[in-house]
Amino acid sequence: MIQYIFRFIPASVSLVWVIVSVSVLLFLYVQLSVLSRREPPGPRPLPLLGNLFQVDLKRLDQSLFDLSKEYGPVFLVSFGPKKVVVLAGYRTVKQALVNQANEFGNREVTPIFYDFNKEHGILFANGDSWKEMRRFTLSTLRDFGMGKSISEQRIIEECGWLIEEFDQFQGKPFDDTHTISYAVSNVLSGLMFGKRFEYRDPLLQAIVNRDNETIYLTGTASILIYNMFPWMGPWLKNWKALMKNMEDGKADLGKIITELKDTLDPDTCRCFVDVFLTQKQNLKGNNHTHYHDDNLLYTVMNLFAAGTDTTATTINWCLLFMAKYPHIQERVQEELNQVVGSRQVRIEDRKNLPFTDAVIHESQRLANIAPMAIPHTTSKDVIFQGYFIKKGTTVLPLLTSVLYDESEWESPRTFNPSHFLDKEGKFIKRDAFMPFSAGRRVCLGESLARMDIFLFFTSLLQHFSFTPPAGISEDELDLTPVVGFTLAPQPQGLCAVRRQ
Ligand code: HEM
Repeated sequence: MIQYIFRFIPASVSLVWVIVSVSVLLFLYVQLSVLSRREPPGPRPLPLLGNLFQVDLKRLDQSLFDLSKEYGPVFLVSFGPKKVVVLAGYRTVKQALVNQANEFGNREVTPIFYDFNKEHGILFANGDSWKEMRRFTLSTLRDFGMGKSISEQRIIEECGWLIEEFDQFQGKPFDDTHTISYAVSNVLSGLMFGKRFEYRDPLLQAIVNRDNETIYLTGTASILIYNMFPWMGPWLKNWKALMKNMEDGKADLGKIITELKDTLDPDTCRCFVDVFLTQKQNLKGNNHTHYHDDNLLYTVMNLFAAGTDTTATTINWCLLFMAKYPHIQERVQEELNQVVGSRQVRIEDRKNLPFTDAVIHESQRLANIAPMAIPHTTSKDVIFQGYFIKKGTTVLPLLTSVLYDESEWESPRTFNPSHFLDKEGKFIKRDAFMPFSAGRRVCLGESLARMDIFLFFTSLLQHFSFTPPAGISEDELDLTPVVGFTLAPQPQGLCAVRRQ
């Protein structure tokens, strides 16, 4: 057919026709490939420094949330020479972490995280080792009762010790941060080591206080700068403090692990460490095993670091909100009186305590303790919402923008338990409630954390009312967070006043 047409067209014209067609095709091809490799928008970066002057490193999550209003739900910022894709808003974060879980499910191992774990353990690891450690840890912790009645029993026992400890302050103001961390840490210690510590035990205090400091220092501006320019490490005070914390932590937990190793009986495993050591023995001689001493030590350290401060900080926020909003505290206590009375609260009571449950969820939402989750990277080149994101790009799922998403929450910036209640006062789940993140990297300890928070919070409110210290009004209690890797309440010396 084409030959037939060309017979009637002069040779020069057909040559022009061919050239024009090829050019048009070439132009379309170039345009399409440019479009398919279009980077997300974002503020114009300066050479070397990137967008460092356009963000507030002291409140990075908030500043990125503000930028998302200008540049949309997927945008690019440069921290020094490093390009980072920020995901904002519930729909976008869910689309990436859940619908494209594999593409967005790798962990970013920044220089400071590499220094911490050398890519062993779970938090800052990837690939087969991460997969095996995560699977093994979840199934072993479940066998030891994580999220089940055995850990409920352990938490209830710890509630008793915590109440006794609070009683010693006789209603006077005190900083409850450390005490709550010791209680939470003891629940983990039961699962990991098969034992609890006295709150005054210097070893428990050292492990917990060091982890709290590490989590705070990791989020400071100087460590964000270290991640951009790692050669600066030896000149940074916070980096040196973190390295010392890591070494001391390894020594302390290493000692506990050695004691368990020396008394190991594979037939009666007492705890997580015993099961790991037995597995290691069973796989002796296998050169490719992931069950080696580094993975054991760093997995144990990861669980303490990820599980203690986060849970204790959340309970601290819950108590601060109660002191600030006494009418809500009274309603929680009334509900507890009616449904539970003076007996010990149990997990199965939760379904009959809708207002209390809503208050806990609302506290977690507003407290927003892990505002940027933990950075991810893309595992392959990906086209997302029309933008090209290269394999290995750092991705920040901005949980602040999910928990405060204006299109999801009726009053995102206020403490409003009705966010989780229907018209009849029944508890309702909300999809945008995502403090544990989502997808492949979702918090491994979510079920344990939820049990801890519910039982500690309700047991404390059965026995105490929380109030500001004398001379300070509820309005004066400050909700501005202390910013580290997590957002913690400022210590304000609340009083735990005995009710019964
Ligand atoms: C209120 C308490 C807690 C909160 C708000 C919380 C939140 C989070 C968040 C936001 C992440 C990052 C997810 C991501 O990268 O997308 C995470 C990861 C993790 N959490 Fe939690 N967490 C809590 C308690 C716990 C507890 C009790 C444990 C241990 C038993 C734990 C162990 C972990 C681990 C091991 C990871 C890393 C998972 C991975 O990289 O595969 N967390 N958590």
